[in-house]
Amino acid sequence: MKDSLPDLSLDQLFREARTYNEFTEAEVPETLIRATYDLMKWGSTSANCCPARFVFISSAEGKERLKPFLSEGNLDKTMKAPWTVIIAHDLDFPEKIPELFPHNPGAKDWFKDPMNRAETAFRNGSLQGAYFMMAARAMGLDCGPMSGFDRAGVDKEFFQGDPETENWTANFLCNVGFGVEGSPHPRSPRLKFEDACKVL
Ligand SMILES: Cc1cc2nc3c(=O)[nH]c(=O)nc-3n(C[C@H](O)[C@H](O)[C@H](O)COP(=O)(O)O)c2cc1C
Repeated sequence: MKDSLPDLSLDQLFREARTYNEFTEAEVPETLIRATYDLMKWGSTSANCCPARFVFISSAEGKERLKPFLSEGNLDKTMKAPWTVIIAHDLDFPEKIPELFPHNPGAKDWFKDPMNRAETAFRNGSLQGAYFMMAARAMGLDCGPMSGFDRAGVDKEFFQGDPETENWTANFLCNVGFGVEGSPHPRSPRLKFEDACKVL
């Protein structure tokens, strides 16, 4: 049986983890971004399908490509953030199932129905996006997730026209860096157990 993580870790991962709009000037090396991916990739997905795909943007050119598709409220902070991640999923994820689920390569055929395939990609890709945020926070980074952007525009600019990414579609964006302490507005409340849960 395992022990609970220490309280300090629970604070970092949950109780004090905030959405950041402002990040310090401190460099966030690509090695740290790669280490975050290498941690998050262990999060569970159905049939180990791993449909999430990530585009990590830190260059000015990459940010300029993203800029036209950001909502006004997300524009400045995203242009200034050390990294912005496009968290996408691959609607063609079943192609990789023989590699990812070697004890049952036929599981690829479970996702023939396009509706089921899209739902599975979105469900598991969203989970992996959340795993990514938790991994980043575990590594000491801070996140600023965003759904305020033109998804079709991002898909066209970043994914369409390239056979490798043709079937990727963006889910949400996430700024990553070291957050400016004290910058988020006061924490909003969460639902109490009694208001969000049932015990049967
Ligand atoms: C998937 C997702 C999308 C979000 N989209 C935006 C957004 O477009 N713009 C924004 O300013 N905040 C966005 N947020 C931030 C939320 O408003 C924020 O996480 C929430 O108010 C709770 O704040 P806290 O994380 O600091 O506790 C988003 C958060 C998530 C998880």
